[in-house]
Amino acid sequence: QVLILDFGSQYTQLIARRVRELNIFCEIFPYNSKTFDIKDYKAVILSGSPSSVRSEEAPHPDLSEIKGKLPLLGVCYGAQYMAHNFGGEVGASNTREYGRANLSFIKENEVFFENVSTGSQVWMSHSDTILNLPETFELIGSTHDVKNAAFKIKDEKTYGIQFHPEVYHSKDGLTILKNFLVNIAEVEQTWTPDSFVETTVAELKEKLGDDKVVLGLSGGVDSTVAATLISKAIGKNLYCIFVNNGLLRKNEFENVLDQYKHMGLNVKGVDASARFLKELEGESDPEGKRKIIGRVFIEVFDDEAHEIQNVKWLAQGTIYPDVIESVSATGGPSATIKSHHNVGGLPDFMKLKIVEPLNTLFKDEVRRVGKSMGIDAELLGRHPFPGPGFGIRILGDITAEKVRMLQEVDHIFIQGLKDEGLYNKVWQAGAMLLPVNSVGVMGDERTYEKAVVLRAVESTDGMTADWVNLPYEFLQKTSNKIINGVKGVNRVVYDISSKPPATIEWE
Ligand code: XMP
Repeated sequence: QVLILDFGSQYTQLIARRVRELNIFCEIFPYNSKTFDIKDYKAVILSGSPSSVRSEEAPHPDLSEIKGKLPLLGVCYGAQYMAHNFGGEVGASNTREYGRANLSFIKENEVFFENVSTGSQVWMSHSDTILNLPETFELIGSTHDVKNAAFKIKDEKTYGIQFHPEVYHSKDGLTILKNFLVNIAEVEQTWTPDSFVETTVAELKEKLGDDKVVLGLSGGVDSTVAATLISKAIGKNLYCIFVNNGLLRKNEFENVLDQYKHMGLNVKGVDASARFLKELEGESDPEGKRKIIGRVFIEVFDDEAHEIQNVKWLAQGTIYPDVIESVSATGGPSATIKSHHNVGGLPDFMKLKIVEPLNTLFKDEVRRVGKSMGIDAELLGRHPFPGPGFGIRILGDITAEKVRMLQEVDHIFIQGLKDEGLYNKVWQAGAMLLPVNSVGVMGDERTYEKAVVLRAVESTDGMTADWVNLPYEFLQKTSNKIINGVKGVNRVVYDISSKPPATIEWE
């Protein structure tokens, strides 16, 4: 178990993901958090930071409980902080130190650099540099521009590196992390999807006992994996509710419900489409629509939950990125909690305890855990789909007819991507129905019908995204199918905007 102390670097989560790739469990906490217990950890990594150690506002934590007592690795700011704090000198660097560099010196027979050769490419991103190391520090690696690129403290398992082993451009980054964690810190590599399932199911059994648990299934990866885990632990005491808000993809409700039943989940499908559509009538503001959809969902869900006698817990598919406490943008001591629609989503009137079995996992790990439990690959590989569904893909007000049109268009597009082997190359795809009519001609007839937009993006987390260069032939075929097949649509356009400045959804 490894503790990562976050000083606000954009790469901190990446450190955690790389450590997990080594099958080692790790957790991130802000450097000033009071919520972790150092006794729970076998090694500590200090992250980078946008701050300069020379600034008074920069994080200057007390390392006395860590340094010399546990194996410790400082990355970038973490390394600079140790040098600065223990008698060395850190100053502004003369040359730009961003991007590619190569290790020009590596100390011989140094375990930290086992299987890493001089010349190995590392990734730099810093404006301060370590000018002088403290006396007790020993230089173990340099690049052409950065003499003090790697050090260790004599007679301790304490190391510092100026470069970022966690980024993929540091070619031997994972090897270096492994050398530190496995060879030096002697942390065991036992954290695998199978072991996660085994320990989580045992913990859930213990925690939930004979209690009843209710969970809202959405058809998405997270809620499905969460439900499968809890179901393994408590079987039919898990009551899943899958609400049809009438804004789902074509046949989605029926197909996914069927799939859930085959998986042995105790699931009830609730078709509330008419209620959602009625409540949405006349609303065209995006946030207004989101609010209505959110409120009605909670009402429907609560009605259903009340049908279950003596339910004690609400289960949620919240994942780790949603709950990591973040260091505030100033790097100052006021740690904030990221807010997200899944976090704290418990309505007041449902006085249930919350269970979140995935809240230590990254998205790709959720998929791996799902795979290890035998969940269908197609279900695990599904594109993200927004909670408000077509409610925010039909621009402007929503009617049953518009939902029908968009379901048809979306179905042609998504099925086409699957048929052509393109679906898994795209992070998210979908169609939007515009509140615009345009003139067309079909046969000898003038038409005046709706325009639709196709959008396919690549991304890793939805925070930034780029449009996908789908083959022209595919777009041509899809456009023909849509215009010929969907009554009411006479124009198809493809969205070629990146995020930022655009967003993925149009609303
Ligand atoms: P944007 O449009 O902000 O979308 O670039 C980023 C990701 O978030 C999804 N999204 C939502 N998901 N409720 C959700 O559950 C929402 O209100 C919502 N809005 C956007 C979007 O589909 C994309 O994956």
